[in-house]
Amino acid sequence: MIITRKISDLKKKISEAKKNNHSIGFVPTMGALHKGHLSLIDCSANENEITVVSIYVNPTQFNNQEDLKKYPRNEDNDLALLKQTKCSIVFLPETTEMYPEKDDRVFDFNGLDKLMEGKYREGHFNGVAQIVSKLFEIVKPHNAYFGKKDFQQLAIINYLNNKYLKELKIQIKACEIIRENNGLAMSSRNARLNDKQRSAAANISKIASGGELSRFMLALKVVLSKVKSVPTIIFDEIDAGIGGAVAHAVGERLKRLGENLQVMVVTHHPQVASKGNYHLRVRKA
Ligand code: PAF
Repeated sequence: MIITRKISDLKKKISEAKKNNHSIGFVPTMGALHKGHLSLIDCSANENEITVVSIYVNPTQFNNQEDLKKYPRNEDNDLALLKQTKCSIVFLPETTEMYPEKDDRVFDFNGLDKLMEGKYREGHFNGVAQIVSKLFEIVKPHNAYFGKKDFQQLAIINYLNNKYLKELKIQIKACEIIRENNGLAMSSRNARLNDKQRSAAANISKIASGGELSRFMLALKVVLSKVKSVPTIIFDEIDAGIGGAVAHAVGERLKRLGENLQVMVVTHHPQVASKGNYHLRVRKA
């Protein structure tokens, strides 16, 4: 595993790999690595000859200086973990390297950065876009890997990639959430929770059943579809275990979603099906 802290050095190593026709997978991180990060590296290593991992706690995505100061950092442990993976190159830049001068770029996400988490962390997603776009320009990977845990970040990265970085032709790969035994999604920030907070946080994954979770995702997608980040969404078995008023409400939400993008739904419910503009009857042979 090659360790580098300089952009010029990293670019040299990557161009050598590209000369050998090797495909490059990229996993950007802020360190304090855990099994979630390791699974992203695994995904990349399965699909690419070279996997580049960056570790950099990006100051521009913190709107609270105390939060930036307390963000967990453990370089020795991170490097020891990475040595056990198929990571080929790790990039550990200093802030002078990433921001030799102030980055004043303001990205337009058509409101996507102002909803949900963005509402409470002003400028956060703009900061994420600043660093991810810089890293993408440096690494120019074929594929870049992000966790579904950060659902809104993933939508922002897709939007950024499609709107601002199209010429780089990078495929964004969304990877599954990795959880602790108690159901808590793994996150570097969990290191800041005490035992009581940790077990309380684990309850989040128990709040919703499978059907409720897919309807929760529907609600999120209705909100996010207003910024047109994806052209088509397919829902399979969205109506499992519901009926009556709930099925009607689900049908209404799907119809609203269909006003902004193409929605395809596999359903057993007439209440849901009746909201569609086109119908295909599918029978098991
Ligand atoms: O998800 C993260 O760890 C960070 O937001 C990212 C994408 C590495 C940008 O700093």
